[in-house]
Amino acid sequence: MKISIIGAGNVGATTAKTIANRNLVSEIALVDIDEGVARGKALDIAQSASLAGFDTRVIGSADYAETAESDIVIVTAGMARKPGMSRNDLAHCNAKIVTAAVTAAVERSPDCVIVMVTNPLDVMAHVALSETGFPKKRVIGMAGLLDTSRFRYFIARELNVSPREVDALVLGGHGDLMVPCVSQTSVGGKPLRELLPGETIDALVKRTRDGGAEIVNLLKTGSAYYAPGESIAEMIGAIVVPNGKPIPCTAYLEGEYGIRQAYCGVPCVLERRGLSRIVELPLDEPDIKALRLSAAMVTEQYESLLKTRDRES
Ligand code: LAC
Repeated sequence: MKISIIGAGNVGATTAKTIANRNLVSEIALVDIDEGVARGKALDIAQSASLAGFDTRVIGSADYAETAESDIVIVTAGMARKPGMSRNDLAHCNAKIVTAAVTAAVERSPDCVIVMVTNPLDVMAHVALSETGFPKKRVIGMAGLLDTSRFRYFIARELNVSPREVDALVLGGHGDLMVPCVSQTSVGGKPLRELLPGETIDALVKRTRDGGAEIVNLLKTGSAYYAPGESIAEMIGAIVVPNGKPIPCTAYLEGEYGIRQAYCGVPCVLERRGLSRIVELPLDEPDIKALRLSAAMVTEQYESLLKTRDRES
């Protein structure tokens, strides 16, 4: 399989390295408007192959011709947040970058699966769906895994256990209204609510929701990339070697969870052609409500983006 990653910034390059390390695909094309950065980072990653133990060919370019016949196109190109900004503050600027990127990429890879990472990623996935006219199964986005991984980490630190012992699920849009589903969370098989007091859980939920901003504030320039890179690689693994297990991703909903025509993070089974199916878990009422609210926020942001675009044209 061949993968293209659009954007060779911190997220794109870390994703390329993480996917290469897993030896999942035969080729990765890393594309950036800055040709030197794309080629330099690709070469650097390629030179780690004998030590890291992968056979993936990694090339960098500014030319979309190198992306031809990709099975998967991962879009990371765009501006990152600065301290004090919300992900949605990036919508207008990043929509233009994402539109240009997907248009150029799908011309060369008309059958690809698009994995959207550029923020605000649920809104950008919707932009990609409408710009490409692809079926919804071929336009999905990352973030549920990232948010879930953060939640698992914070819980593990609190309980002094391995993050791998924590089973958790964060759904909803990748924004301030994301939904860490406490009722779906357990440690070593025990429900989280039996292990921690309510106010501690609330604090962990809040820290998860603010997880991206916490890192933005520390870095001052740029946003997180190591955990995002792992999350994307995990999604790519589930596409390349489907295992039937649901993982949280953003997908276009048409009635699932009572949500229509919106991108939102939900449990998804992935396969080689992208989304195989959305799993409807029996969530408790507060989680369902929170999920619908989060999806409504994404829809509002998408519609507001369309209005701004209309005014401009
Ligand atoms: C984060 C950004 C990448 O959550 O959205 O870290």
